[in-house]
Amino acid sequence: MSETVNLADKIKECLPAELVRLIEAIGAMAAHQDQHLYLVGGAVRDLLLERETFDLDLAVDGDAITLAQLLANITQGRLTVHTRFKTANLRWKEWRTDLTAIRSETYDQPGALPRVKPGSLAGDLFRRDFTINAMAVQLSPGHYGDLVDLYGGLEDLERGFIRVLHEKSFTDDATRIWRALRYEQRLGFQIEPETLGLLNRDIAMLDTISGDRIRHELELVLKESYPEKVFLRADELQVLPRLQPGLKCDSGLSERFEQARQISSPTPPPFSLYLALLTCNLTADQVEQLIVHLKLPRSLSQILRDSCRLNTEIASLATPSLKPSRIYEVLHGYSPSAITATSLAADSPEASRNIHQYLTRLRYIKPALTGEDLKSMGLVPGSRISEILKRLRVARMDGEVSNRQEEERLVREWLRKGA
Ligand code: CTP
Repeated sequence: MSETVNLADKIKECLPAELVRLIEAIGAMAAHQDQHLYLVGGAVRDLLLERETFDLDLAVDGDAITLAQLLANITQGRLTVHTRFKTANLRWKEWRTDLTAIRSETYDQPGALPRVKPGSLAGDLFRRDFTINAMAVQLSPGHYGDLVDLYGGLEDLERGFIRVLHEKSFTDDATRIWRALRYEQRLGFQIEPETLGLLNRDIAMLDTISGDRIRHELELVLKESYPEKVFLRADELQVLPRLQPGLKCDSGLSERFEQARQISSPTPPPFSLYLALLTCNLTADQVEQLIVHLKLPRSLSQILRDSCRLNTEIASLATPSLKPSRIYEVLHGYSPSAITATSLAADSPEASRNIHQYLTRLRYIKPALTGEDLKSMGLVPGSRISEILKRLRVARMDGEVSNRQEEERLVREWLRKGA
């Protein structure tokens, strides 16, 4: 028999003291009701890797919802209960805890959401995606900190392998294909050869997944520190074209993602910028297909349409010494994410400079005179006033006027000439 690995010290080292006390308390509460409580899934993996984790998944062989309510009382956190799945989610401070009853899930058909029945810990862990995510740590007093590693998770963690637990894993849930790539690239691991074979075999199962779930996976990829690594691998393994056949990822796109991070720093780039970069070489039809497939929200869809359309305008922006008002005319009305994506994707330094000028300066330029000022200069309220204001903005952008007096002089001249 191999010796039990105990993670009590690691828990103490890696988690804040407040959280450790809470985990101990809730383990004791569960024990008081003759139930066993476990830390499961990704948090165990991250503890073993000594990586920071903010999400704790707890599993109990009893009533998860009652336990979550007790925990909510102690933490004063925000509790959400999902009666159908017998789970509860608690948020407080920067922490998130999912509490679930140890379960045995069945899938009515491939790609469907699981149905949940009570089950054993071994069964619960066996139904998980990869061995490194299928370990548990006991949190009940007496066994506190003991690692439950039934499927070789620790060994795979040490060897750097992403390995499924059974050959139907990807058919049960094809989102695991994206998850495999994500963990592989995040952790610098390798998809274990047999698992890679299954992934290749089951790649078409990605088509059974609803647009909402695939979009969620895509969002998770884009939250990674280096999403381009996942996309490069997804391209190599023919997973990326399952999203949309026209999508590609190469070193050029990787560089643009890096630039996007630099210009957005210290916050990560918005989802929309990354997505606009990923899709900017698609045709308008392909963009529409992707929007429908992923059920993208309206504002995001507009950004992708904008960046696709802007790509066709890029040649006109590559002209040297373009008048600022012309740059404004081309770019005005497009979303900033689409414009930034176009600028990063443009091979022309001139176009990038012009776009930069628009984003940092031109789009904020307004005349000093207002509609009221024009009225007091004798103009009758109506479309003529807005036309003059537009012309003033153009004059201001192109440097023909630079202050209020010059604007007034120009307006008087236009009025005199009837222009
Ligand atoms: N899980 C699974 N199959 C999925 C999604 C999740 O088996 N398609 C299991 C895994 O055991 C996973 C756990 O549910 O560890 C929690 O899922 P999630 O929060 O998505 O993953 P984490 O492991 O916490 O990973 P991350 O660090 O990316 O949040």
